[in-house]
Amino acid sequence: MNNGKSQVLAVCGKGGVGKTSIAAMLVRHFIRQPEARVLAIDADPAVGLATSLGIDVTRTVDDIRNDLIRQVTSGATIDKAQMLAMLDYEMFSALEERDNLAFLAIGRPEKEGCYCQVNHILKDVIASVAGNFDYVVIDGEAGIEQVNRRVMETVTHLVLVSDASVKGINVVNTIKQVADTAIEYEAAGLIFNRIRGKEEYNRLSNAAGIDILGWLPEDDQIRTADMEGKSLLDLPDGPVPDALESCVATLGVTHRLGCAS
Ligand SMILES: Nc1ncnc2c1ncn2[C@@H]1O[C@H](COP(=O)(O)OP(=O)(O)OP(=O)(O)O)[C@@H](O)[C@H]1O
Ligand SMILES: [Mg+2]
Repeated sequence: MNNGKSQVLAVCGKGGVGKTSIAAMLVRHFIRQPEARVLAIDADPAVGLATSLGIDVTRTVDDIRNDLIRQVTSGATIDKAQMLAMLDYEMFSALEERDNLAFLAIGRPEKEGCYCQVNHILKDVIASVAGNFDYVVIDGEAGIEQVNRRVMETVTHLVLVSDASVKGINVVNTIKQVADTAIEYEAAGLIFNRIRGKEEYNRLSNAAGIDILGWLPEDDQIRTADMEGKSLLDLPDGPVPDALESCVATLGVTHRLGCAS
């Protein structure tokens, strides 16, 4: 599904481990290359990434989907080509854009019931939107299911996040197993977050069972930004952004600017 050009990173892990903070800091890292076109996708219905990026959400993919389902169920005859054209247009108009950053919120999880054609087309449209960017950062819901259904097929890199807990590590192992059977990504790696020093990290890294990208310390600036609802894009340079940059390098996200269609 991926056009082989965009670098699509999905950030996954147990609830509360720091996925949204890390997704926002990844966005911060990529937009610093002025020539890079970056898309942030908030796949969490709670739209936490929007807040961490200082963006207001006006329309979600779910809103678009619901409008379309309303039209289809009200008896309007729309063929597949019309539906695609409409969705393409709607999706681009739902993007919140700021300089070299665009933002798309997915909205609520899919309702049960067979809107299979709509869901299928939506997935294609999201993939085609993503193909227009050099870097795409997806902030997943705690589990993998929702990401799996809608955007996972486009993913090139899995950024697994865990805190120091056994539960956190178990969850990323499960996510990786699901991903290994569901998608063809290029690389996956684990970031330990909120770690209290090198010793703790060394102990954890022996038990992880997944390639490790690095670790981020417990950091007051991240905590305070969240408490005050401030954007992590404004995080000053320092040890945490540096550590994240080194994680990105270890993951092997390659610089292919200007290649996106
Ligand atoms: N390295 C860090 N240092 C200090 N606080 C952190 C760090 N990383 C995340 N936090 C804080 O931990 C809390 C949870 O982080 P975040 O919202 O990023 O997690 P999440 O995995 O996205 O959670 P959810 O599963 O609820 O979406 C937030 O208050 C955030 O500010
Ligand atoms: Mg979150």
